[in-house]
Amino acid sequence: MTGVKILGVGKCVPEGRLTNDDLAKIVDTNDEWIVSRTGISSRRIAAGEPTFHLAAEASKQALERAGLKGEDIGLIIATSITPDYYTPSVACMVQREIGATGSMTIDVNCACSGFVYGFDMAKRYLQTDDSLKYVLVVSAEELSKITDYKDRSTCILFGDGAAAVVVERKEDTLYSSYLGADGNGAQFLMARNVLGKNPLGREETVIDEKMPEGNGPYLYQDGKEVYRFATRVLPMVTKECCQKAGIEPGDIDVIVPHQANFRIIETAAKNLKLPMDKFFLNLSEYGNTSSASIPIAFCEAIEKGKVKSGDKVCFVGFGAGLTYAGVIFEY
Ligand code: COA
Repeated sequence: MTGVKILGVGKCVPEGRLTNDDLAKIVDTNDEWIVSRTGISSRRIAAGEPTFHLAAEASKQALERAGLKGEDIGLIIATSITPDYYTPSVACMVQREIGATGSMTIDVNCACSGFVYGFDMAKRYLQTDDSLKYVLVVSAEELSKITDYKDRSTCILFGDGAAAVVVERKEDTLYSSYLGADGNGAQFLMARNVLGKNPLGREETVIDEKMPEGNGPYLYQDGKEVYRFATRVLPMVTKECCQKAGIEPGDIDVIVPHQANFRIIETAAKNLKLPMDKFFLNLSEYGNTSSASIPIAFCEAIEKGKVKSGDKVCFVGFGAGLTYAGVIFEY
């Protein structure tokens, strides 16, 4: 199989920590409830720095670890649901910051599945374009921008951060992916853009009838529906990736799942008949950072020696859309 070799991984998370006790001062909640329902203890929250800044810092670290310079990168794939601008893209802002002038730039919005979609796109570009040597995939999010800190059912979940990988093509290596979406579940997890006000004064037609009136730009979620979806697709995607790769789930060395909720991952582990120590988790410290959660966890897993050269690694994500995505590759 043609796959990818990871040359460098980097991350950048804001300094500011928001603990469960901090949240208990803002909304009616407590540490015990949050930890028992989610596994989350604290999150990092940006203090004014833009999303693209986190993306650029993570990218610089990944490049340095890869022994490359910005100008070596031929394609930047950035993923975010919380960019600073409608336009230009996060990828263009990163390109400017790292000096990758002339590279292709693409932004991907697949919510929490974004990094895995971006990673698979990188592999497909590398496989079909011989002139392309190195691709940067960077995921950066500031969920604090779209979190309603008056809503105790969502504000406990989300945090900010970014991470990046630099990859090149690798022949004769393990690689499989399984990606998809179910737009019929769109209304279970959404955040609205500004309402259209056109000069003819026509009212914009909205489809988000489930969202509470006056929800503004904040994330709305039907927690139970999302929970049901996540516990179904996480094992399903892992099994599909394994089948395509010709391996069993037990053959995977490390699974790096989207860091949404400890209970979701525990349920998936049971379904897959795998021990929890196959899964690398850091959600206790960072919460759910949407598309950045898998690469931040992957970066930490490498730094802590939990992922070693030659390991079979599985990334598996799920999120708004509703989207799902998995890849298996050899590190
Ligand atoms: N602190 C204390 N109580 C809370 C609370 C909080 N932060 N949030 C909600 N509650 C209350 C509710 O008001 C409700 O009270 P009631 O019974 O008096 O009405 C009770 O706790 C149970 O609420 P419920 O929504 O049924 O809780 P839950 O067990 O479904 O847990 C989530 C809520 C959000 C933790 C859970 O649904 C979940 O994890 N869903 C998936 C979310 C996710 O991963 N999203 C991102 C995917 S990418």
